[in-house]
Amino acid sequence: MCGIVGYVGDQQAQGVVVEGLRRLEYRGYDSAGVALVADGQIAADKRAGKLANLEKAIAEDTLPEATTGIGHTRWATHGAPNDTNAHPHIGAAGRVAVVHNGIIENFAPLRAELEAEGVELRSETDTEIAAQLLERAVLAGADLTTAMQQVCQRLEGAFTLVAVDAEDPERVVAARRNSPLVVGLGEGENFLGSDVAAFIEHTRDALELGQDQVVTMTRDAVVVTGFDGSPSEGTPYHVDWDLSAAEKDGYDWFMRKEIFEQPRAVADALLGRHDENGRLQLDEVRLSEDELRNVDKIIIVGCGTANYAGLVAKYAIEHWTRIPCEVELAHEFRYRDPILTRDTLVVAISQSGETADTLMAIRHAREQGARVLAICNTNGSTIPRESDAVIYTHAGPEIGVASTKGFLTQLIACYLLGLYLAQVRGTKFGDEIAAVVRELEQMPEHVQAMLDKAEEIYALAAEHAKTRAVLFLGRHAGFPIALEGALKLKELAYIHAEGFAAGELKHGPIALIEPGLPVFCVVPPRGRDHLHEKMTSAIQEIRARGAHTIALAEEGDDAARPYADRLIELPKVSTLLQPVVAVVPLQLFACELATVMGHDVDQPRNLAKSVTVE
Ligand code: F6R
Repeated sequence: MCGIVGYVGDQQAQGVVVEGLRRLEYRGYDSAGVALVADGQIAADKRAGKLANLEKAIAEDTLPEATTGIGHTRWATHGAPNDTNAHPHIGAAGRVAVVHNGIIENFAPLRAELEAEGVELRSETDTEIAAQLLERAVLAGADLTTAMQQVCQRLEGAFTLVAVDAEDPERVVAARRNSPLVVGLGEGENFLGSDVAAFIEHTRDALELGQDQVVTMTRDAVVVTGFDGSPSEGTPYHVDWDLSAAEKDGYDWFMRKEIFEQPRAVADALLGRHDENGRLQLDEVRLSEDELRNVDKIIIVGCGTANYAGLVAKYAIEHWTRIPCEVELAHEFRYRDPILTRDTLVVAISQSGETADTLMAIRHAREQGARVLAICNTNGSTIPRESDAVIYTHAGPEIGVASTKGFLTQLIACYLLGLYLAQVRGTKFGDEIAAVVRELEQMPEHVQAMLDKAEEIYALAAEHAKTRAVLFLGRHAGFPIALEGALKLKELAYIHAEGFAAGELKHGPIALIEPGLPVFCVVPPRGRDHLHEKMTSAIQEIRARGAHTIALAEEGDDAARPYADRLIELPKVSTLLQPVVAVVPLQLFACELATVMGHDVDQPRNLAKSVTVE
């Protein structure tokens, strides 16, 4: 999500910065900009769209020569992807320029404070607030480093900020909290980047920064402090990847990188969603509380993985809100002439926001008078633009064709929607909602715990390199996870894979069981005793017929152990949230099996990332 570059040295900064931005293009972005410090002034240009738009603009209206500069590729979060909202943002006096990655959670009160003091803000971004605050501190006499320390102490959320001061041309100052930033250490020059790809062609010596650190960079020095100004230091390391690996952060596939980004993505999806009293506030949901109170039916539409997120959401939303909830494949929806009224809420789930089937479904829904809420990862894309309301998932760009972090953050957005509806309609007490939110906030840690088991899952995948079919069983919220596990294998490993509700086995699919057939079984937590028991019986039944059972069960659950050829332990979480952790080993398994089989994991055959035709 967003690319950041900073440079100070003796090369032409424009070239270094633009080239750095090009190296970060793979992160995905919707606008780009640069700011240079030249002759005591900030010279900047920024454009919506591809880097080529910015380069064309700079070629037509050249920027002055400079050896200090910053640059940014923006993945829109606050405000549409246009020229005005693109970074850098410059303070009102034209003295300080800032680029930013992340979300400043307390941006609303800070914006109100600045406006009350007469500052006219030009953009809709949270970043401009940081630019104005930094400039005010500098104008009040602080140097840029001190200004950054002061401002960061006032900011909440996740952010990387990089700033330059027109009157201090030899210094670039940056800060980070919960958002990436690395320093590239050169000879007589230094670099900043969201990751090492930004500067890998200049240096492979890098400095990793810790949480809540401010770094001040000149040609010959890099000085690190805490937000409170206390001396601190980064961790030096040498990069031994080539450029293409660097773009993937050392991973072989974008998909694998994105799987490992999930703790961060889930944390970002949860950022800024409640006030200090634990009351949910979904700012992007532009439907009034009255409208939400009147909703008498929810229909969730989406395709593929997004549809499975909807299937999980149904269990949670109906349980928490008691509103009847249907889930429908977007391409089937409008052809069955669904019954829609003004009080029907259609929830469209789409990572890309451009899937034609889903778009057509919401157009139909709106024509029939229903309200549409989009759950989407791509700011400014068509589906949220054509919806009445939106919850952005903030997963950052997803490049691997198979959706992973997109799915996990869709689940989080669905849970938030369900809890928000429960809050508005009073179907759950505030403390009950706060308890689920607290559990959600532990999910990044739980997802990380699953990722820590990657080697175990990879070994399992290697053992199955010759497998021609795999089945997946689940019940309740685990059933969509069985479907998702099977879809991942189909699309990546090109083998026959099916997901079933375990209760359906006896009604037909059990005939497929033959000796040695691998069957993944998602065991519900023991909190749901009857489900848990039934799933354990299903595992016994298929094992008795020779299946190779791979059980995913919560730690300490010994009931499935005697019938499991392999046991993958899941952290203890509540039944409705278990999909968030249970899907992770299935993603790892599919990614690794496809790798072992020699397939292109990021671009599986016949598939496109964004399906823009019906
Ligand atoms: C599977 C996958 C697809 C998408 C589907 C919808 O790994 O990625 O099934 O989930 O094409 O795409 P979006 O979410 O962009 O509407």
